[in-house]
Amino acid sequence: MDSVKAVVVYESLWGNTARIARAIAEGIGPEARALSTAEATAATIADADVIVAGAPVLGFKLPSEKMRESVRANPGKAPAPPDLSHPAMRTWLDALPAGQGASAAFDTRVRGPFGSAAPAIAEALEQAGYASAAKPVGFVVAGRFGPLRDGEVERARAWGAELATALE
Ligand SMILES: Cc1cc2nc3c(=O)[nH]c(=O)nc-3n(C[C@H](O)[C@H](O)[C@H](O)COP(=O)(O)O)c2cc1C
Repeated sequence: MDSVKAVVVYESLWGNTARIARAIAEGIGPEARALSTAEATAATIADADVIVAGAPVLGFKLPSEKMRESVRANPGKAPAPPDLSHPAMRTWLDALPAGQGASAAFDTRVRGPFGSAAPAIAEALEQAGYASAAKPVGFVVAGRFGPLRDGEVERARAWGAELATALE
C-alpha cells in the first residue's frame, strides 16, 4: 500500500503545537511533512492526500490577530518571545484554495474546559472541500506556555498512525 501523502500545518507561538505537528507527521509516515503556516504554500499542499491543521487555543479559541498582537505587546511571564514569524492559522485557512482531499484538525491547550480551536479549524477545512477523516482532537500542556504533558507526544504519534490507517 502506498504511504499517505500528508501536510501537517501548524501555527505555534511557543513551540508546543509545532512539536505535536511533527509527532503527528511521524505517525502518519514517511510521506508526511510538518510545515508552519508560512511554509505550507498552495504548491506544497496541492498533491497531499490529507491536510492536518493545528493551532494553540488562545483566549478560548483559535488565535485572532488581536490576540497575537496582545501577546506580542504583553509577553507576561513567557519563557521566550512568541514566534509570530508565520501567519495565524485563521489567515492560512482564509487563503486555502478549495480542494477535494481529506482533512483533520487538532489544537494544543491547557487542561480545560477553556475553549478549543480544533473544531473551528475542522469546519473551515470542510468548507473548503476537504472531507473530515477524524474527530478534532486536543493535546494538553502542563502550564500556560507548555511544556506538553507527559505522553502527549506519543498520543499525537499514535493519532497520526490511526489517521493514516483510516485513509489507506
Ligand atoms: C496568552 C495565552 C492565552 C491562553 N489561552 C488559553 C485558553 O483560553 N484556553 C486554553 O485551553 N489554553 C490557553 N492557553 C494555553 C495554550 O493554548 C498552550 O500553551 C498552547 O500549547 C500554546 O501553543 P504553542 O506553544 O504552539 O504556541 C493560553 C496561553 C497563553 C500564553
